Amino acid sequence: MKSIKDINFKGRKVLLRVDFNVPVDDNKNITDDTRMRESMPTINKLVSDGASIIIMAHFGRPKKGGFEPELTLEPVAKHLEELTGRKVYFTQELLGPKVTEMAANLKEGEIMLLENIRFYPGETKGDEELAEQLSKLGDCYVNDAFGAAHREHSSTAVIAKFFPNDKYFGFLMENEVRNLEKLMQNPPRPFTAIIGGSKVSSKIGILENLLDKVDNMVIIGGMRYTFTKAIGGKIGKSICEDDKMELALELMRRMDEKGVKYFLPSDSLIADDFSNNANTKIVPSNAVPDDWESMDIGPESCKMLKEVIMNSKTILWNGPAGVFEIPAFSKGTKEIATYVAEACGKGAFAAVGGGDSVAAVKQMQLADKMSYVSTGGGAMLEYLEGKELPGIKAIKE
Ligand code: 3PG
Repeated sequence: MKSIKDINFKGRKVLLRVDFNVPVDDNKNITDDTRMRESMPTINKLVSDGASIIIMAHFGRPKKGGFEPELTLEPVAKHLEELTGRKVYFTQELLGPKVTEMAANLKEGEIMLLENIRFYPGETKGDEELAEQLSKLGDCYVNDAFGAAHREHSSTAVIAKFFPNDKYFGFLMENEVRNLEKLMQNPPRPFTAIIGGSKVSSKIGILENLLDKVDNMVIIGGMRYTFTKAIGGKIGKSICEDDKMELALELMRRMDEKGVKYFLPSDSLIADDFSNNANTKIVPSNAVPDDWESMDIGPESCKMLKEVIMNSKTILWNGPAGVFEIPAFSKGTKEIATYVAEACGKGAFAAVGGGDSVAAVKQMQLADKMSYVSTGGGAMLEYLEGKELPGIKAIKE
């Protein structure tokens, strides 16, 4: 792996692509800076080597083809100053003489953050001219943006071709790739995948790719109701993709064929309203009354999950067990976080990804008990679907 570890960047001008696409509240306060903190080892290494760093990052999905005040990276620049304890040179101007001059004048150990790279319409199209223009600001390229590695954009992939012998993975990226490779190539067994979320359609690729790799497949979240209904269960008003029922049956057939044990939660917490104050009860998952909707897994399912998880040597968890954002329906997801942490304590290797699963792990303050918590949402999913990520490929080739 072309890592920055073995290189001394003293006196170099490093173009560093990061994923600082962090959540912010209405007042532009960053509500979770994990992605920024996870790139700090890379930034610290480059600073302590004596490189000057020109950071490229995106924020949100600008649509107007130019500067949009609500999507400026200015709050991120300020926070980066706090994290690094250094001045971060930042200008809202886009590429042009001023930016070129700022980059050229950077001294050893100095950091500059370019304005939201998606303000250039060429970025998301993978425009080569833009990539070339960017490449001229530095003399080597480091990619630490795992969260955007599934995008074949100018700054995440195309730019690498201008540094054929001088392109590297940052520490965050290296760590993500190493852990994902560990998961997909020769994992200690039994290997259990716990896949949740609301829709089967968004997880088809990952379910199909994992069929050949796992010993146990636990299907949770709203998507399990498509499976339950497909095998004749009564699911009331629970979320279901009727047009995916045939596919669910096919997936179950294939798991049977391959000897993969699959688990659908046996009981559910159901509610009469999509709110924290709704009336709730526990029922068998295949006997949800007509006017009720399933919101979470029940205690019997938690017990079953605990047993499967505790007997696993490798665990992949992606997706919540229920409607995690509503506290009354978050118990199952939190329980899973606890079991996975416990299994790690006993030596299992566990990788966690996906917004709500990661949020649960953080809320329970269990992140440091996991073997690995991914900073990538879509990027991790696409990797697990078996796709080659452009951001990774561009450095490797
Ligand atoms: C993310 O938040 O998943 C990454 O930053 C990628 O963002 P995107 O989905 O807008 O490309």
